[in-house]
This record gives sequence, structure tokens and C-alpha cells, in this order.
Amino acid sequence: MTKSPPARLGLPDLGVGLGLRIPHYPHVFEQKPACDWFEIISENFMVDGGRPLANLERALADYRLVQHGVSLSLGSANPLDWQYLKKLKALVAKTKTPWLSDHLCWAGSDCLNLHDLLPLPYTEETVKYVAERARIVQDFLEVRFAIENVSSYLSFTSSRMTEWEFVGAIAEEADVGILLDVNNIYVSSHNHGFDPNAYVDGVPHHRVVQMHLAGHTRFEKYIIDTHTGRVIDDVWALYARAIERCGAVSTLIEWDDDIPSFDEVHAEAKKAIAVRDRVLGAGAARTGAAAGPTTERVA
Ligand SMILES: [Fe+2]
Repeated sequence: MTKSPPARLGLPDLGVGLGLRIPHYPHVFEQKPACDWFEIISENFMVDGGRPLANLERALADYRLVQHGVSLSLGSANPLDWQYLKKLKALVAKTKTPWLSDHLCWAGSDCLNLHDLLPLPYTEETVKYVAERARIVQDFLEVRFAIENVSSYLSFTSSRMTEWEFVGAIAEEADVGILLDVNNIYVSSHNHGFDPNAYVDGVPHHRVVQMHLAGHTRFEKYIIDTHTGRVIDDVWALYARAIERCGAVSTLIEWDDDIPSFDEVHAEAKKAIAVRDRVLGAGAARTGAAAGPTTERVA
């Protein structure tokens, strides 16, 4: 059995959670199923009132929520959007999220928003540029910020390091966390032809504060990160390797297309708990979840 390393950047292990999605609202709000925690998409709740905030209050009454964003565009050449960041900070005050994440990518420039999570060139210059912005974001929000590795379908000839060296260098330079999306590693390793195990072995494990797991769609040449279907066996094996190296890290199941019943998605969370228990021993897993304020709702 592998012993867990110290808590990552002082953040708790919340156990295994699910993305809070609209088709599951009736079940979650009325049945209040046992679930370690939920991840919310920040942008869905960055409003002044109305139904989204009413739903947020209902979720907060029974569950611990962690914010995950999709619009920060950390790697963009544009200045940071301070209106966006102020709204994000207001939401942090409401949710008391223990950390907050967004993607290590860019999504557009000037007035053009491409609505996609685009990769960056892996260079020292980009590390310095993005790390400075990540540090500014974390300092302003006054909560631990984590960068998530994205799936990608192209790469830059100007890159001078591996993706995992790039992710790790930014996290170290900015003193931020890493949201390690294990499925994204698998998808990109297939699309670009690198060893996914080397990626998992190569990231700074003490900075991994959260992991993502998801299904994907395999086409003839490429795999697309569609967040649909169950996690495949190869990704479960990669997750076991990541947990073995990082210890008990809060994990989240993403299922965003063709969303099945809550119980079907939650079955994936139970599989993740089983993997953690197998790798770390049942006693080591989900210790943070048991200590959290939503103890009465934790399975
Ligand atoms: Fe993800």
C-alpha cells in the first residue's frame, strides 16, 4: 500500500464528486442523494439573482460546492477581464469554494471568442506570461487557484518542452495548484503520440489539488474530449497511477453530453472510490470528505 503524501497545498481531500447538472436538479434537490461534493460551472451562477442563484442556495444548503470556470482564457494575449474577475470573486464569497479552477488555455483574442479551450506553445516565454496572470488571479480572488490541463488536437512547432513540464513550470512559478484531468491526458497522448504514464509521473504531484475523470469519443484518427459515456479502462488505470503518486486527491466525474440518470453518473463516482481504496487502502481514502461540513450527506 502506498502512503498518502501531505495534504496538497493545505487543501482537503473531499472524496469523489460529480458535476452539478440541470437534468439532475430535481433528484438532487428533492432526494438529496449521498454525494461527497459537487463541482459547479462558475459562469452559470455569476448573476445578480433569479433562478440560478436560488438553485445555488439549495445546493449549498446540503452539499459542499467547488467552483470550476471555463471563460478565464488565462493564456489569451488580451488583458485580464476585471469585470469577470469581480463577478467571480463575488461568487467565491457565496460558495466558500476551497479552491477554484480554470483551464490552461486561450479561448480567443480581441472581440473574437472561439468558445474553445485552445492549447498554448510550450515555451519559457509562455510559462512566464501565463504564470504571472495566474498569480494575479489567485491573489485577487484570495482563494487557491488551480490550472487544468486541456485536451488538444494540434501543437505548436515552437514548443520547447513537454506539456507536463509546461503545466508544472507554470504551477511552480505562480504558486498555484493543478487540476489534473486524467482523461485529457489520455486523449492528448493518443492525439499527439506521447506516453500518458510519463505525463502522470512528470507533473509536480504535491501541486495536484483535484482530478477530473470523463468519457470521450474515439474517431478513426483522433479522440475527442466529449465528456460523454463511461470512463474507459485505460483511463481508470491512468487514474490509479495518478492516485498512487499524488495520494488521496479530490476527484470529479464529468459527464456533460447525453447525460444519463444521476445514479448512472454516480456509479462512476463509486468506481473512482473503489480505485482509491484499492490503491491507498480504505482508511486513507476520503478522509477530507469525512471531516467536511457536509458530513451528514457524505456516503
Ligand atoms: Fe476536465
